[in-house]
Amino acid sequence: MQQLIRGRVLDFFADPAKTQDNHRFWENGAILVENGRILAVGDHADLSRDGLEEIDHRPHLILPGFIDPHIHFPQLQVIASWGAQLLDWLNTYTFPAEAQFSDPDHAAHMAGLFLDQLTAHGTTTAVAFCSSHRTSAEALFAAAQARNMAMIAGKVMMDRNAIPAVHDTPQSSYDDSKALIDSWHGQGRQRYAITPRFAITSSPEQLEMAGTLTRENPGCHVQTHLSENRDEIDFTLSLYPQARDYLDIYDHYGLLGQRTLLGHSIHLEPREIARMAETGSRAVFCPTSNLFLGSGLFDADGLRAAGITSGIATDVGGGTSWSMLQTLNEGYKILQLRGQKLHPLAAFHWATRGNAIALGMEAEIGTLAPGSAADLVVLDARATSAMALRAERAESLAEELFVLQIMGDDRAVAQTYVAGKPQK
Ligand code: GUN
Ligand code: ZN
Repeated sequence: MQQLIRGRVLDFFADPAKTQDNHRFWENGAILVENGRILAVGDHADLSRDGLEEIDHRPHLILPGFIDPHIHFPQLQVIASWGAQLLDWLNTYTFPAEAQFSDPDHAAHMAGLFLDQLTAHGTTTAVAFCSSHRTSAEALFAAAQARNMAMIAGKVMMDRNAIPAVHDTPQSSYDDSKALIDSWHGQGRQRYAITPRFAITSSPEQLEMAGTLTRENPGCHVQTHLSENRDEIDFTLSLYPQARDYLDIYDHYGLLGQRTLLGHSIHLEPREIARMAETGSRAVFCPTSNLFLGSGLFDADGLRAAGITSGIATDVGGGTSWSMLQTLNEGYKILQLRGQKLHPLAAFHWATRGNAIALGMEAEIGTLAPGSAADLVVLDARATSAMALRAERAESLAEELFVLQIMGDDRAVAQTYVAGKPQK
């Protein structure tokens, strides 16, 4: 059955940070949807016809749904935990919370709530770290599949430097990851990410296993953390004394490449930047987390100039908001502190097509091109009285987007569609 979703439609075909001609905007637009996919996008007058079911979201904006390329599923109750920087925060709050995800009932219950939060905030695809327990990834994939929602996820591999309840072993992490890949990678819209948590919590034997999995499953993503915090870097280098630098550890085990997502990537050496560019590895900027944990200021322009593709993500629960709008807000401020600018068009491109490109998935998600999934977010720049007051003086699309970027959150998300189905 076909359906017309009507509103003020915005779609990017190039990166505003690089190219002048970068988006299409239909003030009186519509998206024609069939079986969860986009058939056409354009002027309402060109797409409407008698008998076609129509949902009218005017005067709201319709964009491709947000993509969150770095988030921790078992940390949905860790968000807003007081007082610590990365390593203390992990030990005090995070590992104990993740230990609970060995229980399949807890994991299943939380998986539904996790997806509810994502879609309430306009996010239609996420790349998620699960706990070290196979059950946690099973639960997340099953819940996402039931909603026909594209999820990229993996159980974390971690065999040391945490608490026994979240430790696996090199062999069990290989076996569980492989079993999850066999049952979920490529099932419907589900994809697997091989997920060594970070070098501190993986022995050399485990990183070797992660490298083997990566070679055996070239279609899978790889996700981990890199150079988030100074103490983390010092501890890491003490554990891997032969490595030239932090990135070299992952490189040594064959974990770099175009499908590799390196969360944070803040305190990088020139050699690491050059090697990330050479291997096509992606950096992922996590602004609310980097501020909350006092980690540091991401160098977006520097990495772009070096030829590195970056994503932008929430990193809940180190991150403090599920909202990609709030993520863009804090991202704007971090870049201000670095003397860099995040223009609203570049910001909304980043959270949609930009993140899809970082994942190598721009043919399926992140744009409104015909053939893409009908994953959409409907945004209301007048969602609160304060936003409405400000929006009264917005004189351009860019200004309206900037109100959303700085003041918006889930209240500004009027609707979210996953594969053509409304979620709110
Ligand atoms: N490094 C290793 N694990 C984590 C995590 O769960 N959150 C953050 N922010 N950094 C990490
Ligand atoms: Zn993280």
